[in-house]
Amino acid sequence: MEEGMGANMLVIRELDMNRDTPRVEELERRIRNSPSFLMLVAEMGPGKEIVGIIRGCIKVVSCGQNLTRPRNEDSDLKVKPICTKLAYILGLRVSPSHRRKGIGLRLVNRMEEWFRRNGADYSYMATELDNKPSLNLFTQKCHYTPNFDIDRIVENRLNVGTFLAVSIGYSWSGLDGFLSDPPESWALLSAWNCKEVFTLEVKGASFARRLVAKATRMVDRALPWLRIPSVPEVFRPFGLLFLYGLGGQGPRAAKMVTALCGHAHNMARGLGCGVVVTEVASQEPWRLAIPHWKRLSYTEDVWCIKRLQEDYSDGPLGDWTKSPPRISIFVDPREF
Ligand SMILES: CC(C)(COP(=O)(O)OP(=O)(O)OC[C@H]1O[C@@H](n2cnc3c(N)ncnc32)[C@H](O)[C@@H]1OP(=O)(O)O)[C@@H](O)C(=O)NCCC(=O)NCCS
Repeated sequence: MEEGMGANMLVIRELDMNRDTPRVEELERRIRNSPSFLMLVAEMGPGKEIVGIIRGCIKVVSCGQNLTRPRNEDSDLKVKPICTKLAYILGLRVSPSHRRKGIGLRLVNRMEEWFRRNGADYSYMATELDNKPSLNLFTQKCHYTPNFDIDRIVENRLNVGTFLAVSIGYSWSGLDGFLSDPPESWALLSAWNCKEVFTLEVKGASFARRLVAKATRMVDRALPWLRIPSVPEVFRPFGLLFLYGLGGQGPRAAKMVTALCGHAHNMARGLGCGVVVTEVASQEPWRLAIPHWKRLSYTEDVWCIKRLQEDYSDGPLGDWTKSPPRISIFVDPREF
């Protein structure tokens, strides 16, 4: 593509690896903070067959802020970003006929050497949860740790707790005992008090609607045994109790999920939250066990994805845009 700019005519064309590589590298060196990039190949035998590849890049990213007080006491605190050099491993692949011969490991090791030489602070990779070869390679052989910080969620002051339902008669012998020998049926959920961070309010409802809503609450209070659904007070600021980490197993799990939701409802009242909400996958096995009003629920979100690069993210899922949705999802309550 050519754009007429007189003597400074701009031409956009494909990279010619042989001719352009040194000049492109020079350009990258000149641009401060531009990602450094390396691609390695594993060659084998007299025919120099390419049996593996790995790509990596290093970027400078901000990972926090530092507050510094200037010399003049009256001036405001200065916020300085803390930066780190983060390395990414991308597109590691070994030809299927040459797997399990140590080639993947050697490629990762060589890439890490280059990361270190170039001052990278961390190396990072992402793979699908069910990609056992890749996870084993990175966690067992290369000492990467999964970066899902569930501990930080659980320890957060907004986390009200994690609740487990088991049948009457089950004797609790501690977490290890539960994990190694779980009962036939159990259910689990955690609750997060969003009210501490924000409140919501429904505005613009007609007077008639407000009146009907109030009437349902009055009837429910006066005649609770009728179990008439009452519309919560949402026309003035109200808080949410968000349920996440829903799970369970066994023939009685659905009933237990319903019981846990009832418990969460009572907790929400105690915390002064007006509404209990959760988000689950459309195929979540316990979805129907969660008491909900259809009218107040969005049955399904539509997630749209566009694949920008043809040779990225090619684990066992292949093309992510064509992969089937997962049965359950974990919604990080901090992002809710
Ligand atoms: C993941 C992959 C690169 C591994 O390459 P490889 O050359 O076969 O790996 P190595 O021979 O170096 O194996 C190193 C370690 O990885 C783990 N591993 C590799 N393949 C494994 C498998 N099929 N099952 C379980 N663990 C496996 C093992 O811990 C192995 O050590 P060990 O052989 O001493 O038990 C290769 O399977 C591949 O190309 N997969 C498809 C693309 C992909 O998923 N890439 C990763 C994206 S990040």
